[in-house]
Amino acid sequence: MSEVRISTGVPGLDEMLHGGLIPGRVYLVKGAPGTGKTTLAMHFAMAGLARGEKVLYVTLEEPVENLRQDMPKLGFNLDDPNFILIDATPSTDTYVLMDSMFESFAKGFNKMLETVKNQYLSLHFHRLIIDPLTMVKLTTKEEIEYRRLFLEFVKTMHRLRVTTLLTSEMEKCDVEEYLVHGVIELRRFEMDGRVARGIRITKFRGSDFDDALRPYAITERGLTVNTDEILRVF
Ligand SMILES: Nc1ncnc2c1ncn2[C@@H]1O[C@H](COP(=O)(O)OP(=O)(O)OP(=O)(O)O)[C@@H](O)[C@H]1O
Ligand SMILES: [Mg+2]
Repeated sequence: MSEVRISTGVPGLDEMLHGGLIPGRVYLVKGAPGTGKTTLAMHFAMAGLARGEKVLYVTLEEPVENLRQDMPKLGFNLDDPNFILIDATPSTDTYVLMDSMFESFAKGFNKMLETVKNQYLSLHFHRLIIDPLTMVKLTTKEEIEYRRLFLEFVKTMHRLRVTTLLTSEMEKCDVEEYLVHGVIELRRFEMDGRVARGIRITKFRGSDFDDALRPYAITERGLTVNTDEILRVF
């Protein structure tokens, strides 16, 4: 029996996932600053739009103006009517602009969960991106509370059949890693005085996958993975 898989928007990554993501699940993309988390998230968003899906993208650190300026250079069209881009970055305009989303998304996990559910009721999106989740984590005080709310979030998205991609800065043993369905790591190494980029899947519940560290590049076509090679680092 062949199971339905959906594209991440990155062909080589779909191959590593043995066909793509299992829909209706929650995935984490981890990586240090500048490794390509936002780029990968945009590929994921565009792949949804290409299938006629509705996509909600919540940006918590990079203002929408920057994304609108930078992302078209990588070939992404952010003007699709099914693409809903919400700016939840902290802003000095918070008290001026009544529609600031920072309070709703970044002021703790419970607020974010409530806002996502409300947005779902009006928008019925199929894919959700929260980029990055780090901001939400920092504003939730208790670790145990964070874990409880995170699990509730994962279960809610699963129930709503929303395929979710969260981005996060690199940390050793994130609680999120235990609770999500899949984890993709973007890593940067220094080799012979040059920077080498490597992508690896460390977890994918319900599926077999390619667990090798594969080289990837960011070019004017976005993120590309070379599945023919293994990145050997010592
Ligand atoms: N046209 C391009 N050609 C080559 N590299 C590019 C191009 N556009 C962007 N990049 C590279 O992509 C990287 C930025 O990727 P991205 O913003 O997706 O990373 P990120 O992990 O989200 O970063 P942050 O942690 O700051 O949010 C930068 O290092 C930049 O040099
Ligand atoms: Mg980013």
